[in-house]
Amino acid sequence: MLSRRTLIFSGLSVAALGGAVYGLWPRLGKYWDEVERQRQLLSSNPELEGFVRMATLAANGHNSQPWKFRINPTDVSILPDFSRRTQVVDPDDHHLFVSLGCAAENFTIAAAAHGQTADVRVFGGGPETAVNIALQPGATQETSLYKAIPLRQSTRSDFDGKSVTAAEIDLLTAAAREDGVSVLIFTDTTQREAILEFVVEGNSAQMDDPAFVAELRQWLRFNPRQALATKDGLFSACTGNPVVPGWMGDAMFDVFFTKDGENDKYSKHIRSSAGIAVFIGDREDPEHWIKVGRSFQLFALQATVLGIRNAHLNMPIEVPSLRPEFARWLGIPDMRPDLIVRFGRAPALPMSLRRPVSEVVI
Ligand SMILES: Cc1cc2nc3c(=O)[nH]c(=O)nc-3n(C[C@H](O)[C@H](O)[C@H](O)COP(=O)(O)O)c2cc1C
Repeated sequence: MLSRRTLIFSGLSVAALGGAVYGLWPRLGKYWDEVERQRQLLSSNPELEGFVRMATLAANGHNSQPWKFRINPTDVSILPDFSRRTQVVDPDDHHLFVSLGCAAENFTIAAAAHGQTADVRVFGGGPETAVNIALQPGATQETSLYKAIPLRQSTRSDFDGKSVTAAEIDLLTAAAREDGVSVLIFTDTTQREAILEFVVEGNSAQMDDPAFVAELRQWLRFNPRQALATKDGLFSACTGNPVVPGWMGDAMFDVFFTKDGENDKYSKHIRSSAGIAVFIGDREDPEHWIKVGRSFQLFALQATVLGIRNAHLNMPIEVPSLRPEFARWLGIPDMRPDLIVRFGRAPALPMSLRRPVSEVVI
């Protein structure tokens, strides 16, 4: 059973967070207004569309938002949107189904906060796999995890180099508990250095692959105008990078996005983190990838409650030739490690945007 216990909520509102971050990115203008508009908690007695909006605030690969929502009177299905797949980095749609799980978890937490108990079922199978969430009136659970939904983000900056407490790690792993998913935590320097070696090897393989770089390039947004036009993808301010005109972004990408530069960045990222969490599903199928997504989303929300940030470093599990070696290092040679996530403390970066509910409802 999932633990909904949480400790000390950081008490930040999106407005406060926006204000603090605004000082660093003063020229984002209308971008802030859109973030503020998208990241409101729901008013009382929300329509099902409200729960869908909260679901879309979930983590998802490349911010591709690879989901569609079918709304019925008392249930909602979350379906894969294969038109948004990232076939080079994610050829078997693993990340796509993990992303559906992240969205499903936000949906159920938002529903519970408004007195709706969610019965989550995975149906279909293979590429047809999807999630159905049936709702019925229940106890209202307006938890700190719910309030953390608009505040959670992937923070791809250096962290502060400090440890987090054992009690905090216990809370993170308790929150992430999900049938069929294990979470391994690595805080020891030797272990983190070993994972760094895998990350550098994986990143080097990806940077040497022109198809990987071309696909990533398609999802980059270099300025607020580009980010606001699509409301998806990876906006440079959200990754701690400068905001520049599109033409300059293209040129800078070619000059500054280098294998050595990226490997140095990831070394600093890992060395300044408090630890690394690895998520592992019991089986290698879309049903378990959805479970992994639910588990990760809970972990990330609980981290947000504790003022702990997180960011993915999935290269060793994305590069197919490296994944078995990483699994052997983990001591699970016959299983597939699903996600690699560092955590620690750092200031917030700007929040990423989402497409409106009207664009994801079918
Ligand atoms: C399955 C999955 C894989 C991801 N892989 C990476 C990754 O390798 N590197 C990274 O920086 N972020 C990764 N992310 C984070 C997403 O890019 C991020 O969730 C998305 O851009 C939305 O931003 P947000 O999390 O700040 O809301 C991943 C997220 C998911 C759910």
